[in-house]
Amino acid sequence: MNDNQFAQFEIPGMLEVIPGVNELPKVVLTHRSGARAEVYLHGGHVTSWTTPGGEELFFLSRSSYFALDKPIRGGIPVAFPQFGGGPLPQHGIARISDWQPIRTGVRDSGEVMAALQLTADDDTRELWPHRFNLVLEVLLDATRLTVALQVDNVDKAPFDFNAVLHTYFSVGAITRTAVEGLRGVTYQDSLRDDVREVEQRDTIRFDAETDRIYLDAPPHLRVVDETNARVITLDSQDMPDAVVWNPWIAKAQRMPDFGDDEYREMVCVETGIMVTPRTLAPGQHWRGETVFGCEPSS
Ligand code: BG6
Repeated sequence: MNDNQFAQFEIPGMLEVIPGVNELPKVVLTHRSGARAEVYLHGGHVTSWTTPGGEELFFLSRSSYFALDKPIRGGIPVAFPQFGGGPLPQHGIARISDWQPIRTGVRDSGEVMAALQLTADDDTRELWPHRFNLVLEVLLDATRLTVALQVDNVDKAPFDFNAVLHTYFSVGAITRTAVEGLRGVTYQDSLRDDVREVEQRDTIRFDAETDRIYLDAPPHLRVVDETNARVITLDSQDMPDAVVWNPWIAKAQRMPDFGDDEYREMVCVETGIMVTPRTLAPGQHWRGETVFGCEPSS
């Protein structure tokens, strides 16, 4: 990596672009409170978010690949323009593409911002024949991380897309973890032929593989991590669906880039457009965001 390649985006003490694992470049944001976040250009992939006290809030597998043709396992993979399986690679092309920084800055409020972009090129068009701009904007303050996705159709024809923040949270123990906010929401159970049922529980707990898409979920969700006495909050805008996923034992063993026992220390609560793809006409724009927060549990 050429040391000066990203110099125009650096802000002394707050934002730097440095080599990460396997020399893949990553943007490191540091808020004056001491909170930090890291975003790899590979995948436009947030891999770390730490509190001012140094607690890591995102899970990152010790077995993750850090390779150009593979997604990173953990943090926030971006699924676009496809969620799950289909004609494109699983979860689409964004998480296996290289993004570019386009903007960095510090707001008057002190928030540190980095925006990365993925634009259609010969590689993406080979897989998905559309001209698009996809922007990931990351904003960091003392207690919150805001992650926004924006899609522009710069083509001459409409296209449909899914767009998802596939967030992996680090938890002290999955058996002492609860997801709240989904009671009364219809879900599609990916482990039972996509059967649709209504969630009856206030508090979702884990004792087996879980893989559900909640349709039109409320914008506010909570991940209660009892072991670490903390609650992670999610507040989304125009990200209508949510997935709750934990691979549990057998699936963990089948995944080459995930430790056999790591299902114990993570849960995915994903936000975005999973079920009904959005359509953008030429010139149209979409923006969705999730604000992640962390507070001590009462
Ligand atoms: C979740 C899906 O979003 O992603 C699961 O609901 C899937 O079915 C998981 O296993 C991980 O996918 P991948 O491609 O990163 O292994």
